[in-house]
Amino acid sequence: MSKEDQIVIMGIESSCDDTAVAVVENGEKILSNLVSSQVDLHGKFGGVVPEVASRRHLDIVNVLVEEALREADKEFSDLSAIAVTYGPGLVGALLIGVATAKALAFACGLPLIAVNHITGHMYANFLVHPDLQFPLLSLIVSGGHTNLVYMEQHGKHEIMGRTRDDAAGEVFDKAARAVNLGYPGGPVIDRLSQEGDPEAIKFPRAFLEEGSLDFSFSGLKSAVLNYLNRQKQKNREVNLKDLSASFQQAVVDVLVDKTLLAADKKGVERIALSGGVAANKTLRAALSKGAEGKGYKLYYPPVEFCTDNAAMIACAGHYQFFENNYAPLDLNAVPNLHLT
Ligand code: KG4
Ligand code: ZN
Repeated sequence: MSKEDQIVIMGIESSCDDTAVAVVENGEKILSNLVSSQVDLHGKFGGVVPEVASRRHLDIVNVLVEEALREADKEFSDLSAIAVTYGPGLVGALLIGVATAKALAFACGLPLIAVNHITGHMYANFLVHPDLQFPLLSLIVSGGHTNLVYMEQHGKHEIMGRTRDDAAGEVFDKAARAVNLGYPGGPVIDRLSQEGDPEAIKFPRAFLEEGSLDFSFSGLKSAVLNYLNRQKQKNREVNLKDLSASFQQAVVDVLVDKTLLAADKKGVERIALSGGVAANKTLRAALSKGAEGKGYKLYYPPVEFCTDNAAMIACAGHYQFFENNYAPLDLNAVPNLHLT
């Protein structure tokens, strides 16, 4: 197939607790987008149990592949390539997606495209805003990652900042777990915060060294745990709405401040927010306001494309397809893969 034809990419994602398969045409037309969540399985443990996640991926991935093709009204022979997340993530979980993609690529004689999960999150914005222009500043905030990335063009970027300890979503999940709000904690804290006072409890904001674009959320996590202990010792009730709102505001303040600082440094006109935490209402509103105040345009995907999905992997795969950035059939999962 020549690259002038319609490009149809199947994306496969299994890096954590969602099994997802999508079929995307020309990097923007979503023909099918299936996500099988495992929240029911892991919720009672307060976090993802890796072995349980791998088994569920294995049970469901082939069913999703067939269903995704059926919904897209495509055959394997209509596909241009198979794109798969190969890291970072849980090794056993990643291996299910990678093995499935390799088998399909081999059997159907299709190119295999290896996508970094963090790159996938960045491309959620190109999926839904195909008119998005370079250069831009990308903030990726999810359960496993917090990155500020300057994107000059497809395949050319510079990491400006990253977390030195916990990821933004991870700290939401850990704070929620400390007060038994279930897993994942981000959506619950987001909801409770809407009726809470963000100034009720003074939590620390870690801005690090002057001008640093790195993040650190472990101090905030300890501050929440210390606050809960103090309240318990004094036999005081914890107001979950105020706790949620005050904690969330501390995360949002740092994310917004550093994103605007990075945008100023690079003089970009566009900021793209993505990853599971990009679903957060307060973060969206605060970054929109901050960006607007400085004349930057903010882009973010609808909630379903903030959290893990395979359409974003297919979209990233679409652009790698044009760079002939293919993977060999002995591709392996890389659980600690970095964005370089
Ligand atoms: O991108 P994602 O689905 O998976 C990873 O790549 O990690 O992100 C999941 C993370 C979880 O930590 C979850 O608590 C967080 O995103 N999250 C939120 C919200 N929705 C999901 N955090 C804050 N507010 C939300 N509304
Ligand atoms: Zn993710």
